[in-house]
Amino acid sequence: MAAPGGTGPIGPFPAGIDTPDQQDDYDKLRRRLLWTMPYGLYVVGSRAGEQRNLMTLNWATQVSFEPKLVGIGVEKTAVTHELVAGGGSFTLHTIARDDRAIVRKFTKPVEHDPAAGTLNGFAYHDGPTGAPVLDQAAGWLDCAVQQQVDCGGHTFFVGEVVACAFAGPEDTPVLRMEDTRMSYGG
Ligand SMILES: Cc1cc2nc3c(=O)[nH]c(=O)nc-3n(C[C@H](O)[C@H](O)[C@H](O)COP(=O)(O)O)c2cc1C
Repeated sequence: MAAPGGTGPIGPFPAGIDTPDQQDDYDKLRRRLLWTMPYGLYVVGSRAGEQRNLMTLNWATQVSFEPKLVGIGVEKTAVTHELVAGGGSFTLHTIARDDRAIVRKFTKPVEHDPAAGTLNGFAYHDGPTGAPVLDQAAGWLDCAVQQQVDCGGHTFFVGEVVACAFAGPEDTPVLRMEDTRMSYGG
């Protein structure tokens, strides 16, 4: 994972923020403010050919009612990036708040056991687009990629929801970033 917010002060800087110290302070303040943005916390499934992956992600949002579009921001160096770009789809899973330990299992490329049908020991099945669906999710959306927006270090993949299901009771409280001590972004 890249260092949150990059490797040093990143511009642009407002007028009057000229010295290295001022730029450093501004960079830190902007990062703290960006960290206060509320987020959900999800697991993204991806697949190209027979390679499948699951990855923890918080940069996800619905972006249109009609058509039903959902977007995810994926780091260009991630295995998930290669698989979403190559396979043309992704699954986005909500996770039960009680299952929060799951997100720690998917911050590195997974071990796939095709015979057992598991990714890092978690059972999955293939969704309608072919991307893996985590059986233990609270709910999932299967999305066909419609657009790829280049955002520098990340690509924002916009996908149309082609299938979805609750995998548990509909009223299951789902995980949000604030339920963990984790952060990403800034
Ligand atoms: C709390 C948390 C949130 C994350 N959110 C994102 C995200 O929104 N986008 C992203 O590309 N990586 C995110 N990551 C990083 C990936 O989970 C991690 O870099 C992963 O190893 C890269 O995925 P890969 O298995 O596809 O290589 C997050 C990590 C954590 C711990």
